[in-house]
Amino acid sequence: MEKNIFHTSPYMEKAKEILAKMTLSEKIGQTVLYGSMSQLNMDEMRAGKIGALLNVPNVKTANEMQRIAVEETRLGIPLLIGHDVVHGDRTLFPAPLAGSASFDLELIEGAERVAASEAYREGINWIYSPMIDIARDARWGRMAEGAGEDKFYGSKVAAARVRGFQSINPETGHPYAAACFKHYCGYGLSEAGRDYESCDVGERTLYGEYLPVYKAALEAGAMTCMSSFNSLNGVPVTGSRYYLTELLREKWGFEGMVVSDWQSVSELTYHGVVKDEKDAARLAMSAGCDMDMHSAAYDKYLEEIVKEDPEFEKYVDEAVLRVLCTKIALGLFENPYREEDNEKYFLTPENRAASRTLAENCMVLLKNEDGTLPLERGKKYLLTGPLADAKFENMGIWGGRGDPATVVTVKEALEAEEGISVEYLKGCDCEGNDRSGMKAAGRLAASCDGIIYVCGEPCQWAGEGGGRVDLSLGSPQSDYLRLLSSLRKPLVTVVLCARPLALTDVDSSSNAVLLGWQGGVELGNAVKNILLGEVSPSGRLPVTFPRHTGQLPFYYANLPGGRPRWRPDVRSRYRDCDTTPLYPFGHGLTYGKVEYTEVKLDKKTLAMHDDDITASVTVRNDSDVAVKEVVQAYFCDVVSSVETPERRLCGFEKVSLAPHEEKKVSFTFTADDFSFIGLDMKDTVEPGEIVLFIGPDSTTGNEERFEIV
Ligand code: BGC
Repeated sequence: MEKNIFHTSPYMEKAKEILAKMTLSEKIGQTVLYGSMSQLNMDEMRAGKIGALLNVPNVKTANEMQRIAVEETRLGIPLLIGHDVVHGDRTLFPAPLAGSASFDLELIEGAERVAASEAYREGINWIYSPMIDIARDARWGRMAEGAGEDKFYGSKVAAARVRGFQSINPETGHPYAAACFKHYCGYGLSEAGRDYESCDVGERTLYGEYLPVYKAALEAGAMTCMSSFNSLNGVPVTGSRYYLTELLREKWGFEGMVVSDWQSVSELTYHGVVKDEKDAARLAMSAGCDMDMHSAAYDKYLEEIVKEDPEFEKYVDEAVLRVLCTKIALGLFENPYREEDNEKYFLTPENRAASRTLAENCMVLLKNEDGTLPLERGKKYLLTGPLADAKFENMGIWGGRGDPATVVTVKEALEAEEGISVEYLKGCDCEGNDRSGMKAAGRLAASCDGIIYVCGEPCQWAGEGGGRVDLSLGSPQSDYLRLLSSLRKPLVTVVLCARPLALTDVDSSSNAVLLGWQGGVELGNAVKNILLGEVSPSGRLPVTFPRHTGQLPFYYANLPGGRPRWRPDVRSRYRDCDTTPLYPFGHGLTYGKVEYTEVKLDKKTLAMHDDDITASVTVRNDSDVAVKEVVQAYFCDVVSSVETPERRLCGFEKVSLAPHEEKKVSFTFTADDFSFIGLDMKDTVEPGEIVLFIGPDSTTGNEERFEIV
């Protein structure tokens, strides 16, 4: 795949030429992002006081706004038109955490290419994605927008999504859109799972676990970055010169533009680090926040600030150059308008197929007792549950410009299928006290061979503001689960959600559990294809699923401590709950039986520099069905000067295996792949023993040892 590293240098000359012609007011205009079309002041637009828009409803309005910017402002600078394209534009894809469960970077990149190509047709040229915040506390609803808990995997997904959004449009030779990685930085640490909370974390964990994903996004060429709402260790990021300039630009080399999150410039007053909005504008702009998303602080105060302190204009100039470079790189000066007859580009059969393929690849078979799944054709099933036929609730956390009517539900897909008959009963709602719908379940199930229960979280329960203190299904869905399991029919539970839930009762009451996620427009077809065995499930959990909400935060790569959870005598534990996850990171079953050979290393020592080591296993599909297996490599640094996790993902590969086929899978590492943040806070590799594990999830696998020398 083509790498699309964004360097401003090719565009700088033109940007400087434009800057030289600009008045202070026009410069400030380029730093203003306006987010409400209904309150937009057209005189300000014509005066060049707005450089970017968000929430532009359609291509016609986008073109009209571009026309004003290009033809009616003095300098004719086109607009950035931004939008949250979080899991697809019109063709909705699985929610981001769901898509990440595919462990297939090409599919993820391809999904974002489709999303960006559709967004382009809407007049959008700037996408507020990918959200890449590492998150380890599923109470936080925005975990659904990211790639999960792991920095290694999260970095790979971040880069794939950036490449997808910024794919080159063959018609123009420019990227479809600028990606905007967010929320820089550390927003996933929101305390106690409440959105917009402060974030506090030890420095080693911050640099070792939470920051590498952002670096990966910029190294993949992301053109823009969004500064986060939160304070990090007491410093609000939108006003932090350390985070926005010293670390991001001077240390990591980011050349793109930084936009604030929604009103996070003026909100610096609520953080209590400035006395008023004017000081907020001064702090954020001098920190390196180039554009103010809808707080009007730049708009109102930057001119005054520069008049009082002419030296300050240098910050504005730098910001404007970065904004202009972004617009030039996107080709907006040559091509500001989009075709208005655009419906033909959306939801094409190819785009729907891309969504279905990702959905089929990301669904996770969590449990399958005695081959309950796949279902047998020719049988009759009771299909029930509040999410079995709920187009809106199935849309996913950020439905964007999607239309619920385009979502295929599980009920629609199963009813359209020949050779299987379903009796449908909604049964219950996701919330409320009405139990009347459950009554018919027993009678209807009596004539059926099994039950398919479709439950979980409707789309409004997760995402922004979607914090929850109880991640069980909750009543009435749990009550209904108990009733269904008492009917003594094989029970298949399909869980639709966008973040980890505490599924202990689902696991113990069901014969099989399929995590169908919020799976996009083709949700129903993908669930059907898996239930019927047309496709073997191949998704793996990119997050730990707890037994109980009280175990959170919970993640596989924790530090062992002096009394690790597995120590037989004294150990870290709860009085009322096991300390293991219900389903570990990396977990996911298939319909086949995949055997792993011993791990083979090509050598026993690895030099610190200019050396590599290759580890291989052979995986064999000992079954009559085709499967895809996600082969996972983890390592443990046995003795290091600071505590490091007992397992850490360092490689993965999704391989297709025909019935009885075997394949060799190899991973090559250098010593840097085993680095950690050392006592001096630098990336460190120390000599000593490394244990490598290769297997199907984060808790099993065959191991082999070697020495770093
Ligand atoms: C969210 C961002 C989003 C922005 C614009 C904010 O509330 O935190 O993720 O991009 O709104 O919609």
